[in-house]
Formats: sequence, C-alpha cells, structure tokens
Amino acid sequence: MSDTLKRAAAERAAALVSDGMRLGLGTGSTAAHFVAAIGERVRGGLKVIGVPTSEATRQQAEREGIPLTTLDETPELDLTVDGADELDGQLRLIKGGGGAHLREKIVAAASHRMIVIADGSKHVETLGRFPLPIEVVPFGLKATEIAIAKVLKGSGLNPDLRLRAKDGNPFVTDSGNLILDAHLGRIEKPDALAAALNAVPGVVEHGLFLGLATGAILATGEGLVELGQV
Ligand code: A5P
Repeated sequence: MSDTLKRAAAERAAALVSDGMRLGLGTGSTAAHFVAAIGERVRGGLKVIGVPTSEATRQQAEREGIPLTTLDETPELDLTVDGADELDGQLRLIKGGGGAHLREKIVAAASHRMIVIADGSKHVETLGRFPLPIEVVPFGLKATEIAIAKVLKGSGLNPDLRLRAKDGNPFVTDSGNLILDAHLGRIEKPDALAAALNAVPGVVEHGLFLGLATGAILATGEGLVELGQV
C-alpha cells in the first residue's frame, strides 16, 4: 500500500515537469519513483537535465538515461522533487533518514521550487518523532557529540544521540562523514534548534529543512493532498 501511495505522489510530481527544466533529483524510496517516472518521460522525448542528490540517485538516473549535470555547471535549478521523513503544516521537514541530507539541502537551496513527495503518514503536527540526523566530520567525533548534547540540553531537549551504524560499522555518508541521530520526540522550536546546531564546530549539516520546501504532494488512502504551491 505504502509503495503505491509513494508512486502516486511521485507521478503527480513528474507531471509538473516540462521541457527545458533543470531538476534536482531527490533520494529515497519515494524519490526513486519520481526518478523512474522522469526516466520514462525522457525516453519518450522529454528534454531535462538533473542534479542527483546522492550517489544512489546518480546511479539510478544514469540507468534511466536521464542527462545529468552538476551544480558547478548548472548552479541554479528550476525544481527539486524529494521525499521527506517528516513534514509539518508549515512545510518544515526532517530529512536524512537515508543519510543524504547534506547534498539534498544544497540542491534544494539552489532550486527555485522544492516539492516534497511522501505518503500521508509523514505529515505530523510537531516535528521530532523521527530522529533528527546530524552529519558530523569524523575528526573530533566525541567532542562534537558533547557539544551537540550541550546544545540540546540548552534547548530543553533530551540529549539522546546515537551514532548511525550500518552492517555493524559506522554509517559513512557520500561526503565521508558520520551521522548522529538525535532522538528528540518533539521539536517545538525548529528555527532556534537549527541555528544552534549550525553553530557547533564539526557539524556539517542537520536534517531540519526550514523555508526550503515550497509545496508538498501527500498520497493518502483518500487520494492526493497538496500543501503550499504545487
Ligand atoms: C534521504 O536522506 C532522506 O532525506 C529521504 O528523502 C527520506 O529519508 C525519505 O525517504 P523515503 O522516501 O524512502 O521515505
């Protein structure tokens, strides 16, 4: 069911794409449906170029035959379509469940529009049930972790930080960094938390996307629901 919903949201987003667009291609299982839908349209003659937000998406887009570019060659994009781990009614997001939020945020910030595609279960009243991914450089990990914990405590949040692991080893991002997942429960003041985390040396990027998404397409059992500008 969930996969059908994800595909429905992705296909609606793919219908917004027209010839000549410069696209940001998101990461994750929902974005993968979008990349597949764009691939199909490219093979049917659609002319677009894409910037992938991860190595996984790059590989998929190459297999699909989508012409790719980089932000160095094409620093301004028309539209990014990406999934999310959580979004609230103000289109504030938590991303990075797949560990790609650093590139995802750079690509979204370079785009005139960012549309989130997700199944309706990602829509929450208050962000934070999904652990907040914080990408950190490996150098000084322990010191950075202590500094982040201080920030969380200072923000009235429980400093429950867990180093993300994969197959028994620390998970390493596409940029060679590590991820601390912050199990917060509720983030009442995302703007203040984002600013505080950005100020910690060693933090590369966190998964709070604030003021970046311009619209969302949510697939629910009752059909597609759109938020913001789609
Ligand atoms: C990748 O790092 C994330 O930001 C994804 O966009 C997010 O995890 C959504 O993934 P799904 O579409 O697989 O739920």
